[in-house]
Amino acid sequence: MNMETLTTIKEVRKAVAAARAGGRRIGFVPTMGDLHAGHIALVTAARQETDFVVVSVFVNPTQFGPGEDYERYARNLPKDAEMCMAAGVDVIFAPSVGEMYPDENLTWVDVAKLSEPLCGLSRPKHFRGVATVCAKLFNIVQPDTAFFGRKDAQQTIVIKRMVSDLNMPLKIIVCPTIRETDGLAMSSRNRYLGPQERQDATIIYAALKKCAASLADGLCDSQTLERDIRNTIGKTPSAQIEYIGIMDVQTLRPAGRISGETLVAVAVRIGSTRLIDNLIFDPSSGNLSL
Ligand code: PAF
Repeated sequence: MNMETLTTIKEVRKAVAAARAGGRRIGFVPTMGDLHAGHIALVTAARQETDFVVVSVFVNPTQFGPGEDYERYARNLPKDAEMCMAAGVDVIFAPSVGEMYPDENLTWVDVAKLSEPLCGLSRPKHFRGVATVCAKLFNIVQPDTAFFGRKDAQQTIVIKRMVSDLNMPLKIIVCPTIRETDGLAMSSRNRYLGPQERQDATIIYAALKKCAASLADGLCDSQTLERDIRNTIGKTPSAQIEYIGIMDVQTLRPAGRISGETLVAVAVRIGSTRLIDNLIFDPSSGNLSL
């Protein structure tokens, strides 16, 4: 069947209902468009796990704060549609802001505690906007499984908790971070970087890789790990660290000594571009995702 690009909730519900009536499992990849290989990896995972793949393309205004890049965020539906078609997507849902928020929005999903540290410190309403739009999109698409990238680790933790707390009938699958050949995590915001900044941005991966090596060597004092990351990134003058968080992956509380599964997350400004990246380490199995 050919891919369809739909803009109304009614059309998407109809397409999904028909697929489900035909016995197909529904996979969903929520995006803000400007797709790159990281998004396509989510589509590929969705195609492996499910039978009918819906990708949403919606730059969600409620997750941007004042002065952030909502207006500037790249919108290129024809290119996104081409990539989706090549990747075997069944439906693109590309609603307008009016379709998603026809009235003043009075109902919010606020995942307390998990939304507060890390990115929540500088973006206080960000995860409220993300959780609310994901709840709306899950209600519209009604997927069996939704796919998120681990690059946005805190987002995946917030969404999983929302799904669990609100008994939403879907499974969340978190897929590995996709990186450029020099290690920079793929992100739509990488396009804001000038050539020198683009090169400087590789320091983020370098610092996390070094941290991964220390963790693999058994270093478990988070202060030392944090100091090493700070020192590595600090050598690049254009890089300003917003946070380095070494947290318990379930609670997002600071880890102290690393004993359970741990998230090492960083936000760094390269010039005026804010980039995030992370690793997850499980000392009991030695598993490390970077
Ligand atoms: O990760 C994103 O692109 C967005 O936060 C999401 C999940 C599509 C919600 O707008």
